[in-house]
Amino acid sequence: MITTQNKLIEERTERTKWFLQDRFGMFIHWGLYAIPARGEWVRNGERLTVEQYQPYFDAFNPQRYNPTEWARAAKQAGMKYAVLTAKHHDGFCLFDSQLTDYKSTNTPSGRDLVREFLDAFRAEGIKVGLYYSIIDWHHEDYPAYGDLHHPMRDNKDYQRDPATFPRYLEYMHGQVRELLTNYGKLDIMWFDFSYGEMSGEKWRATELMEMIRSIQPHLIIDNRLEVNDGQASIMTSNPNVYSGDFCSPEQIIPTEGLTDNEGRSLPWEACITLNNNWGYAAHDHTYKTPQTVIRKLVECVSKNGNMLLNVGPNANGEIPVESLRILEEVGEWMNANGESIYGCGKADLPKPDWGRYTQKGNTVYAHIYEENIGPIHLPGLAGKIKQARVLADGSEVFLSLPWNASQYSTDAFMNFHRPEHSTYPLPDPRNTVIELKLIDEM
Ligand code: GLC
Repeated sequence: MITTQNKLIEERTERTKWFLQDRFGMFIHWGLYAIPARGEWVRNGERLTVEQYQPYFDAFNPQRYNPTEWARAAKQAGMKYAVLTAKHHDGFCLFDSQLTDYKSTNTPSGRDLVREFLDAFRAEGIKVGLYYSIIDWHHEDYPAYGDLHHPMRDNKDYQRDPATFPRYLEYMHGQVRELLTNYGKLDIMWFDFSYGEMSGEKWRATELMEMIRSIQPHLIIDNRLEVNDGQASIMTSNPNVYSGDFCSPEQIIPTEGLTDNEGRSLPWEACITLNNNWGYAAHDHTYKTPQTVIRKLVECVSKNGNMLLNVGPNANGEIPVESLRILEEVGEWMNANGESIYGCGKADLPKPDWGRYTQKGNTVYAHIYEENIGPIHLPGLAGKIKQARVLADGSEVFLSLPWNASQYSTDAFMNFHRPEHSTYPLPDPRNTVIELKLIDEM
């Protein structure tokens, strides 16, 4: 008998096929907080009232906003989907909502920033998603005093009657309906985030999820209507209606792939910043190197996961130059080696000393980070490899068992040049990918 849970899992599996193929996306955190330029939690950290934050609304006019430039940067980096904050915790809407005046079309900008983002990224062939904060520090019916995160959480003047919270839920559900109805086909809805008792049915999550599925049934949704991450019903064989389609580890890569309690691999996506802030932070120059981004993307894929890599555009509407430079170099690597990422997943092999494996069908990709002394060791692969090539340029890689490895007869060994017993530098020290076509799928 097909139970409801089995049906949920089957539908999730079908919906997320493209997601497991695409593997690499751009996260974009943008809004009023780009003006103070101290990250997207500035109201929380500095306990700014709505009135103290209002000057940023009154001044918001990102005249250099050109989402086509953003889309082309994402495309060149090898990113296949992108998620923009339509509304963050500050409640500011980057879209022309009919349910509030607190929106970009009422700022000096006058623009529907979400619509322009969607049009530009679709035009570049990139799938589109919207991040929507279910937390709202601007709405008068959202809990304030005594809440865990609200900027006015310590201020008794902001004691609110819990009986008014349903009015906020009507607003929140209404805005989600607007986004699903007025902006064409979306590919991802990225909710953020549940905490403490603010979880699940507190958001009327079943009703919300049923509404979403009725309007855009193909849409994939993260798991944060239920949790911020960590254990949730998506990780069980009994997922509830609002468990979502993928797990969303944040600023961490799981130690191993995520599975449910019956061992089924789960779609998951690590969301990671390029520096240490989601929203633009002028002082934060702690950027990850292109090599780190490349190797962490490989790590996600080697564990059956995706990476959603964040940029935080500034108040002028531009992605920071440091971010663009990193994305450009990552894109050069992806252009030569993307086959080892797209549609790949965990290999049926233990992690090797020198790097990581990814696999697609009977092709294994060896991602070599560390130079070897002598030939490169492929444990357990003796007699199993039909062909070995450097993925980036298709050049021959020599498979042999040279005299200095002769005692390891069950293992395979490869090298970039002859004599194969010698030591040679890696063609790409960031990550040299060797395409190994196996004789039979492992
Ligand atoms: C956390 C932060 C939020 C950010 C999100 C990205 O939930 O609160 O600012 O948008 O992580 O995953």
